[in-house]
Amino acid sequence: MLRRLHPEQPESFAFTPANLAWAEAQMTKYPEGRQASAVIPILWRAQEQEGWLTRPAIEAVADMLGMAYIRVLEVASFYFMFQLQPVGSVAHIQVCGTTSCMICGAEDLIAVCKDKIAPKAHQLSDDGKLSWEEVECLGSCANAPMAQIGKDYYEDLTAEGFGQIIEDLRAGKVPTPGPQNGRYTSEPLSGLTSLKEYEAGKPEGNASVALATGLGDTVKRIDGTEVPLVTPWLDRTDKGDPAPAPKADKAPKKAKTAEKPAEDKPKEPKAETPAEPEAVAEKAPETLTEARGGQPDDLKLLKGVGPKLEQTLHELGFFHFDQIAKWTEAEVAWVDSRLKFKGRIERDGWIDQAKKLAAGEETEFAKSAKKDGRYD
Ligand code: FES
Repeated sequence: MLRRLHPEQPESFAFTPANLAWAEAQMTKYPEGRQASAVIPILWRAQEQEGWLTRPAIEAVADMLGMAYIRVLEVASFYFMFQLQPVGSVAHIQVCGTTSCMICGAEDLIAVCKDKIAPKAHQLSDDGKLSWEEVECLGSCANAPMAQIGKDYYEDLTAEGFGQIIEDLRAGKVPTPGPQNGRYTSEPLSGLTSLKEYEAGKPEGNASVALATGLGDTVKRIDGTEVPLVTPWLDRTDKGDPAPAPKADKAPKKAKTAEKPAEDKPKEPKAETPAEPEAVAEKAPETLTEARGGQPDDLKLLKGVGPKLEQTLHELGFFHFDQIAKWTEAEVAWVDSRLKFKGRIERDGWIDQAKKLAAGEETEFAKSAKKDGRYD
């Protein structure tokens, strides 16, 4: 397959502030002059943010790392994990077509993709929500046939079950990943023959499944917030032991952020140390012990809030859009430090969304969530 830049490209690319902080932290992992070694994780973060790798994204990463554009394009076009064309807005489905999976029914799964998504790999479905491709062995051969969706594996698939997973994704549901035939992991289908003492007390779903279901979101967590944004060794700067400034063969440029294009900003003097997010003092917002009139707002209408996160917000004392709309920066820091994924409030723009919803207006996300019947 030819891997080249898609003919239609956006005008620009900018990391979100949180992703930029994360990417700059990655650069400090490598010795001076070797920041180009961070190219794969930073490209990956760009893809997690946008869904696919655009030409502006590739160029922005090259600028950050002081690399020639062609060098970064070589990396992006070599590794199949990088998508060089738009993918489905809900999910890109990667069906393993290698030996074990092929013997166990991968061709049937591909037929389902052709029928329910698009006739050709890498084509978007008519509704733009889904896309698919056939990939090489994903290392889950004992659970063949299987497919990777987002970061999760859906294993022991049948054509019928796989079709249902696709329909569920399209409807905004979150199908449970892991083996789909009742197996826990890759034990014999007829049951365990050894280590039976470990049967009792095991959690529901293996570790990967438990993580995915715990998050309540197996697909959209390809949004880049699922790992710590700041690498721990950057704390050294807080203790008076400055981390070295990144240097490369060509001086890395400061990347643009999604907040404001760099062209609009006054020129900054060259920083001697990598930019770090400034800690904001926390202040507890006003909370409620229960929803007013026993009627909480549907906080899942905020982009980035799923059932788990809504429950956490309730436990913290937030039930209404107008509560969230009033959070100050210090209050956001307080809430953020109590959520599993820091940076989500700012990245998904909860406050702006909450202001609109509290005023009785709609947001694009709320409209589509209601249309898809996700939260009825
Ligand atoms: S052959 Fe499909 S996962 Fe290995």
